[in-house]
Amino acid sequence: MNARISQFKDHVGQEVTIQGWIQGGRSSGKIAFFEIRDGSGFTQAVVAQESVSDDVWQQAVGASQESSVRLTGTVSAHPKKEGVFELQVSSMKVVGASEEYPIGNKEHGPDFLMNHRHLWLRSKKQWAILRIRDTVERAIMNFMHEQTFVRTDSPIFTPNACEGTTDLFPVPYFDLGEAYLSQSGQLYIEAAIASVGRCYDFGPVFRAEKSVTKRHLTEFWMMDAEAAFVEHDENMNIQEALVKYIVKACLTECKEEFVILERDTTPLEKLLELSFERLEYDDAIVRLNELGSDIKHGEDLGNDDEGLLTQNSPVPVFIHKWPKHIKPFYMKIDPENPARVFNNDLIGIEGSGEIIGGSQREDNYDLLLERIKADGLSPEEYEWYLDLRKYGSVPHSGFGIGLERMVRWMSGTEHIRECIPFPRLVNRIKP
Ligand code: 4AD
Ligand code: MG
Repeated sequence: MNARISQFKDHVGQEVTIQGWIQGGRSSGKIAFFEIRDGSGFTQAVVAQESVSDDVWQQAVGASQESSVRLTGTVSAHPKKEGVFELQVSSMKVVGASEEYPIGNKEHGPDFLMNHRHLWLRSKKQWAILRIRDTVERAIMNFMHEQTFVRTDSPIFTPNACEGTTDLFPVPYFDLGEAYLSQSGQLYIEAAIASVGRCYDFGPVFRAEKSVTKRHLTEFWMMDAEAAFVEHDENMNIQEALVKYIVKACLTECKEEFVILERDTTPLEKLLELSFERLEYDDAIVRLNELGSDIKHGEDLGNDDEGLLTQNSPVPVFIHKWPKHIKPFYMKIDPENPARVFNNDLIGIEGSGEIIGGSQREDNYDLLLERIKADGLSPEEYEWYLDLRKYGSVPHSGFGIGLERMVRWMSGTEHIRECIPFPRLVNRIKP
């Protein structure tokens, strides 16, 4: 019977066949031990010379790291460790040999590993991060559907900028001139809310800013959410509920992954019980100055500032109501303080930095047109977007969550390049 390693608990005492790769192994005289990975998990396979044919023993002795193999044997439970199983092998066949696999147990530099990303993905830590990524993606989609958001998706080729004109990747587009790779699908889902009320998109987006940091990719995945008749405070409530939902999903589904990554999950468990802090930008600057930052009012927060603000916080912090002049044109002006907009960043804990950017949108035609002009954008390019304020405009809000930022935080990974299978960075496009 074919089985997967993750189902071994249902097969104790039975003979099963598994198919996978040799993660590692050692042999001592008449017995060989292999760590086998089949994608669903890891198990030790034990081949005893006395219990197998000569041919099988020769295969076992000759099998090297990352050879693919088909193994038949009996599943046994570890006598002391709960949830740990072994395969007592009766037959073994190498499917594809692997000679001199370049990644070993010794320390490799990041450049070497990045150049071998296609193979590095097989290592245990990368396996764990890929699975956490899958859990985060699924949690996001499940949450959105439970909250009655409809997935509508947005184009990647776009004629205009969403987040500022300097950070765009241009693409020649037939006779129509230049298109750009989308920075965010937000503007398009703002149109779709008038059809389905609440919606989201989820896909790759692109940023051409030359940021070489541990948190910036040039291609990353974003879930943009948008909802009609939702205003600033409720927008933050939805974001908080989403983040807690993702954290809970990871804690429930990724126990093995967290062990592999040696990730202490106590801070994640704690934040589920508490409310996230909401700090206005003005107060954040005062607090930062008290903490020793030399940031001036009106400036954007740097990585260090985000770290300072959350260093002793058990919960993520919303920094909201930012000065209008450092934020994009579409954010709604606070009528009580026209120098501020109804927006928020959500800063995660444990040094994870900005996870979400969101805002209530400007729903007044004249004010929006004025902001588009003031930002030096062409009103003709945004005519369709302005139309949304001409035909049944409604108060509405939304946000975008960076998938890899969330995965980086959940997995406790130092560098975002490990949080996407094939990272695209300012200085890397291969493999
Ligand atoms: O704050 P941002 O730029 O917001 C927007 O694009 C809005 N249009 C979203 C919306 O309201 N629908 O980006 C949203 C999130 C950030 O908070 C961050 O998590 C992530 O996207 N992000 C990046 N992740 C990796 N690499 C980069 N270069 C990123 N830039 C932003
Ligand atoms: Mg942002």
